[in-house]
Amino acid sequence: MKRTITITINGEARNVDVSPSDVLLSVLRDRLGVTSPKEGCGRGDCGSCTILLDGKIVRSCLILAIEADGHDIVTIDGLGKDGATKLQKALIANNAFQCGFCASGIILAATALLEKNPSPSEEEVKEALSGNLCRCTGYQPIIDTILEVSRS
Ligand code: FES
Ligand code: FES
Repeated sequence: MKRTITITINGEARNVDVSPSDVLLSVLRDRLGVTSPKEGCGRGDCGSCTILLDGKIVRSCLILAIEADGHDIVTIDGLGKDGATKLQKALIANNAFQCGFCASGIILAATALLEKNPSPSEEEVKEALSGNLCRCTGYQPIIDTILEVSRS
């Protein structure tokens, strides 16, 4: 049986009818047109579907849409509403990504880290990104850029 839920996505309240078994990632992408969270593994391993749920990093393939009812979601689209953030600008300037499939999840994870810990060590950056896989870069350009931004 479907139920109407309300999720605030990047500051905008959205209503959607969902079944109890509907996964949040699918509802975001297929029903609400929010396609920046990507589907990689679909089972919690890759981090490409990462969102912020009430400010906390969550893999949207691992939770049900009904669990987000009444909560706030931020996707990469909701960062830097006045333009790219300092971190995003630095990642672009350093060509830190290649295909970009992982970028949404990694940027959200890094943003959450820097909000909690503005001066992380390299180990802390690696730990914060440990749930986000990147098949292209070897991670170092991304890690170096996060550290560069944290020290600027
Ligand atoms: S698609 Fe969610 S963790 Fe891989
Ligand atoms: S840049 Fe291609 S997966 Fe990370």
